[in-house]
Amino acid sequence: MRDVLAPDSTRWRAFQAVFAQVAGAGGYGEIMVPLLEDLDVFKRVGEATDVVTKEMYDFYDKGDPPRHIALRPEQTASVCRAFVQNRPQTPWKTFYAGPNFRYERPQRGRYRQFDQVGIEVLGADDPYLDAEVIAIGWRFFEALGLRQVTLLLNSLGEPADRAAYVTALQTYFAANVDELSDESKLTLTKNPLRVLDSKRREDSAVVAGAPTIGDFYSADAAAHFTAVQEGLRALDIPFTLEPKLVRGLDYYRRTTFEYQGGTLNSAQNALGGGGRYDGLVEALGGPETAGVGFALGLDRTLLACDDEGVFDAPADAADVFVVDTTGGMQALIITQQLQREGLRAERAYENRSIKSQMKAADRSGAAIAVIIGSDELEAGTATCKVMADGTQSVVARDDLSAAIRKQLS
Ligand code: HAM
Repeated sequence: MRDVLAPDSTRWRAFQAVFAQVAGAGGYGEIMVPLLEDLDVFKRVGEATDVVTKEMYDFYDKGDPPRHIALRPEQTASVCRAFVQNRPQTPWKTFYAGPNFRYERPQRGRYRQFDQVGIEVLGADDPYLDAEVIAIGWRFFEALGLRQVTLLLNSLGEPADRAAYVTALQTYFAANVDELSDESKLTLTKNPLRVLDSKRREDSAVVAGAPTIGDFYSADAAAHFTAVQEGLRALDIPFTLEPKLVRGLDYYRRTTFEYQGGTLNSAQNALGGGGRYDGLVEALGGPETAGVGFALGLDRTLLACDDEGVFDAPADAADVFVVDTTGGMQALIITQQLQREGLRAERAYENRSIKSQMKAADRSGAAIAVIIGSDELEAGTATCKVMADGTQSVVARDDLSAAIRKQLS
């Protein structure tokens, strides 16, 4: 877990603001879900996934009897729980931003507290909606200025197709079990689909020869998948079909997708992902409801932005720096006045020498220094110094903010 200080935190908020703007333009309203939920809510994410079995921060609260709760490892399950409890009108389109917690092995791009932005749509089963959801993520990366993002697309079919596929995979992996890594042998007993996700070199040959989901689609699933692809083509969004894309969570049905960054190490190159999860709302005690959405990793996407030299931290400079050689009270009054008038105004502390205050003015990045000495104080004036060229002018205190604005424009 890391601390985020300015100016990185400013960039962080700017990232969320761009996302809110892109999602807002599509009619998505923000939801803020709690950081913790009943553990059972997250178990629906998949009892056979690492996210649930190994990585959850779970504990008992002080209730009587104590409740088993967990910090959220993601937000889709919480959004579905919120849907069941609040029953908003469908189609319900919502977006979110905020931290999640997974007890993973930390490394560049993988943290125990990490931020996501995401969208979810509940109550609409329309393949062009899948295309819309994917397009919103795509356009967001474009808005950040990222150019090296690829979109991987797959369909896991209907639950029955998926079940038939899992059986075929089980048979195939059982016949080749000796060539699998020990980790994959264990995964196989829990969920053969997850073996496809193995990034271990020992597994690569067996995984490459495994049956693919495409041979198991029902007519409905195949038609849905074709329509999603047609929607993406109509929007000129390039994608690569990746039949082995199963993703790390168990609730997906039909469409799944992942955005990959071109500059990141392959173990951490998923900038985001999502898919359809019809059935999750029901599993949480609600009515039969279609669902589709994605989440994007903020931390990782900012690393990709660093690598591509885009979406820099916004400039973090003051407009004005007030230098006061009369004791500091005048700087206190003037900075407060200028801040009220909407300027970013700073000052030095501890009644330092003029030289030291001018140095601080320089460091603040302010375009203008306002200087108050005993002459100015007596005359009710201030000296305005343009930092870039050193030119100075004397203005009346009452006209100070107008004069500064004129210089800044
Ligand atoms: P996910 O693939 O588990 O999906 O996470 C989405 C993104 O969050 C990842 O692609 C990655 O960028 C980021 N992420 C995940 N774990 C970490 C970590 N430990 N450190 C840094 N970044 C991380 C979900 O969470 C689903 N809820 C997505 C979804 C929404 N599906 C449907 N709707």
